[in-house]
Amino acid sequence: MNEMEKLKAEVKKKGLKYHIITYGCQMNAHESEKIAGILENIGYTPANSKEDADFILFNTCCVRENAEQKTFGNVGRIKKLKQLNQDMLVAVCGCMMQQEKAAKKLMETFPFVDIIFGTHNLHELPGMILSYKSGGERFYSAPETQELHDDVPQKRAEGPLASVNIMYGCNNFCSYCIVPYVRGRERSRSAEDVMREVSGLTAQGYREVMLLGQNVNSYDGGINFARLLKRICGETDIPRIRFMTSHPKDLSDELIEVIAAYPQICRHIHLPVQSGSSRVLRKMNRKYTREAYIALAEKIRERIPGIAITTDIIVGFPGETDVDFGDTLSLVKRLRFDSAFTFVYSPRSGTQAAEMPDQVDEALRTERIMELVALQNKITEERNREYEGKTTQVLVEGISTRNPGHVCGRTSTSKMVNFEGGADLIGHFVDVKITRGKKTTLFGTLVEEGM
Ligand code: 5AD
Ligand code: SF4
Repeated sequence: MNEMEKLKAEVKKKGLKYHIITYGCQMNAHESEKIAGILENIGYTPANSKEDADFILFNTCCVRENAEQKTFGNVGRIKKLKQLNQDMLVAVCGCMMQQEKAAKKLMETFPFVDIIFGTHNLHELPGMILSYKSGGERFYSAPETQELHDDVPQKRAEGPLASVNIMYGCNNFCSYCIVPYVRGRERSRSAEDVMREVSGLTAQGYREVMLLGQNVNSYDGGINFARLLKRICGETDIPRIRFMTSHPKDLSDELIEVIAAYPQICRHIHLPVQSGSSRVLRKMNRKYTREAYIALAEKIRERIPGIAITTDIIVGFPGETDVDFGDTLSLVKRLRFDSAFTFVYSPRSGTQAAEMPDQVDEALRTERIMELVALQNKITEERNREYEGKTTQVLVEGISTRNPGHVCGRTSTSKMVNFEGGADLIGHFVDVKITRGKKTTLFGTLVEEGM
């Protein structure tokens, strides 16, 4: 028996279980599905909670400081569980651990953390476990690599939705953002690989795929992103396709035309604007102006009627004046986004913006975020109320967490809809008449079951 076979036998004999705690974006959530796949291949089974687990993994995020603080707090609390279970392994991985300084600090603060790895070596996890068990090191640093390692098993979340990575990394170096440093340069999967994965998922019964990349518009896997979407629509039977995230600087007319032409592509585009001030956008290195963004959003709405546009906005970027912030508010009023993720600027060491003078006072940042959130909440609710009285198609994803007699799912425009129904509807497209539009959810009644 080789070492791996011995490990598998031990995991099976003891019935060891794993639990993954994920922070951050959809990319991280999807990578946790890969970690789960790798662990289940070794024989681990899912635990119901961390208290019930023998292997706890933290998949971390470092995009803002509060994500890091949360991680430190939560990893610290695992110490007690570790002392109670002699089989317990604790691993910390992901973006935060790709920064050597943060990884070292974590290693020193928490001697009970057994394995630490970054974003480039997830596929080597089985080897790390073996090496750790035979007295090897704790920290598995991984230099940035151009290679893709997509051939790892994946344990997907239950339900009709599946995520598919189409590219990794980012080349944009927005001046506030740590992602290019921890995720490395852009690497695209080949169109053939993506097609094979989407076809496979369709055959397995998945009804919606989410194509993931830090900036899907610069996908280059032999063909560009617009053509990739066209191929998926033309050559697979997947009923619904979403994608995330689009950078406004290179969202092409070709892409807009492809979305307009294929109803399988969801009527939703996430298009982070970050600021409504051209002066701030320049300092952010976003490579578009306020006017160009507004023109793009209006063009998208004109070509694809009914499309929902959502965005990300940062307030309190260094040097942001009252006038700049006023420009953000006026852009939000003018474009009336369906919803927005709003963030207080958080300086990230190593990025350009962290070194800029005129960091905005914390009280002022808080004041601005509150004003922006209040404005956007009102707009989001008004937009959702526009659905009242209309019938819309929903892909049912699961039982409502609030009400076991209700199910929930999304519209093509990515609105969450809640209505009375049972588990038999999960994975089906149904028509729902919307009776109420609230801030985060639409409520309705089932009209008829579709395909
Ligand atoms: N501070 C605040 N928000 C940030 N984001 C990225 N970096 C920072 C930062 N340093 C936001 C951006 C991005 C989203 C994923 O996170 O709005 O689009
Ligand atoms: Fe960060 Fe900008 Fe790349 Fe998005 S496009 S991941 S904000 S550097």
